[in-house]
Amino acid sequence: MVLKPVHIVLLFGTLLALALPACQDNDYSGKDGKVDGSKVYASNCVSCHGEAGDAGAGGAKNLKVSTMSRAEVIAIVTQGKGAMMPFSSLLNEAEREAVADYVISLRD
Ligand code: HEC
Repeated sequence: MVLKPVHIVLLFGTLLALALPACQDNDYSGKDGKVDGSKVYASNCVSCHGEAGDAGAGGAKNLKVSTMSRAEVIAIVTQGKGAMMPFSSLLNEAEREAVADYVISLRD
């Protein structure tokens, strides 16, 4: 088969479409352009706290029964506590606020 220019354009476009998302590994924005807390949670918290917040891996607190205020949750995420590492250098302020709101939404 002879590659016509149109094929090359299609091929290049497909490769670009595949490569672009890989470059934005820290893009947690949702459809509205705001930070999507569920994405921040899925990438940074699920390993210990689990999808529902109650996995408790390595002594992680059950987020479904947590009574912390929003400000306290943001402080824990920022500074860390015990076995939980600080996220101050991993997540920006908007990302920490969004994940705090998401964690609070996991409560029953
Ligand atoms: C390495 C495992 C680990 C990861 C990753 C982790 N946590 Fe934790 N988390 C813990 C542990 C362990 C505790 C209990 C700390 C303590 O009280 O000593 C905890 C406690 C908490 C608490 C306090 C709950 C309470 O009521 O006491 C919150 C809120 C929390 N984590 C949110 C998050 C969020 C949000 C993320 C993701 C940005 C996250 N955690 C990522 C292990 C983890």
